[in-house]
Amino acid sequence: MEAIVLKEKGQLPALIEHPDPRPSGPADAIVEVLACSLNHRDLWILKGKYPGVQPPVVLGSDLVGRWNGKRVVVQPGLNWGSNPEVQGKDYHILGVPGDGAFADKVLVPSENVFEAPVHLTNEQAAALPLAGITAYRVLFTKCGIKPGEKILVTGAGGGVALTCIQFALAAGLEVWVTSGSDEKIERAIDLGAAGGVNYRHAEWDRKLNTLAGKFNVIIDSAGGDGFQRLMKLAAPAARIGIYGGGQGTIRGISPQMLFWKQLKIFGSTMGTNGEFGKMLEFVATHGILPVVDSVWKKTQFQKAFDRMEQGRQFGKIVLQWA
Ligand SMILES: NC(=O)c1ccc[n+]([C@@H]2O[C@H](COP(=O)([O-])OP(=O)(O)OC[C@H]3O[C@@H](n4cnc5c(N)ncnc54)[C@H](OP(=O)(O)O)[C@@H]3O)[C@@H](O)[C@H]2O)c1
Repeated sequence: MEAIVLKEKGQLPALIEHPDPRPSGPADAIVEVLACSLNHRDLWILKGKYPGVQPPVVLGSDLVGRWNGKRVVVQPGLNWGSNPEVQGKDYHILGVPGDGAFADKVLVPSENVFEAPVHLTNEQAAALPLAGITAYRVLFTKCGIKPGEKILVTGAGGGVALTCIQFALAAGLEVWVTSGSDEKIERAIDLGAAGGVNYRHAEWDRKLNTLAGKFNVIIDSAGGDGFQRLMKLAAPAARIGIYGGGQGTIRGISPQMLFWKQLKIFGSTMGTNGEFGKMLEFVATHGILPVVDSVWKKTQFQKAFDRMEQGRQFGKIVLQWA
């Protein structure tokens, strides 16, 4: 079969022939891929910033495909384990350390295969799984969002961040955003966000405070030195959900602010198969359409990776496979 394979650490991946996956028993499913989408994770892997990479390996965590005559999506978090609070030691994500989604065929546990929501195109369905499960757990399971609350989602242009924006709007929250691009803020407003500020402005937190006041919930994937400003923007008893750390180590957290405001900070990673099923129901009930930034042929995958590397995307970057 054809697949996008990382042949050696530090090299660029290539679209090449790769052995077909072989099921080892009835609990395995071989899904024929129709479309896939990129995640920042794929870039971290290419940059050698992800543990456990053992080439040669097929990249990719997100796909829509066909299995048993049905159009399906795959929950990319494999072998979560028995504790819904945290994944077990055998947990891993599709596409590193095992072979992933950017291939003609993908081997996954059949318990991770779910029917794709019927209202989505192949491109939209490919855009949903990893961002959807991450957004669902951090918003609902961890931060317990409620209608009428005010939420801030940082970095509006990202795949997970945009999904958080869409889910929070559907759940009846007032949504505010930050982004490094004024155009992306405008596009988030077009989706229903109340407003936003550009995190490249020196005083972005003051500006946001003037526009929106304090937030009941804050969802962040940046971390870094900007995080202490998020704590200032948090209302008393606010919940802060962190699912990424693109800007690195968080410094300057004030313990006094943390305890006096009675803040809760939650780390969140992906989610269980149960949460994945609930996420699909939520998407179907609210008719949510994942935002697709751009669609590329599989032969153009390098251009798709470049677009993500340059941070130009608004939503998910999709590879058409079949
Ligand atoms: N824990 C988990 O389960 C989980 C799951 C998925 C992803 N992640 C992590 O979450 C992060 C985002 O993943 P993704 O796939 O959604 O990435 P993506 O689509 O490539 O988006 C990158 C994101 O980074 C934002 N950003 C860049 N610089 C920023 C800054 N200085 N301050 C605030 N935001 C900034 C961008 O915002 P603008 O474009 O609007 O400027 C955009 O939202 C990655 O670090 C990824 O590894 C974790």
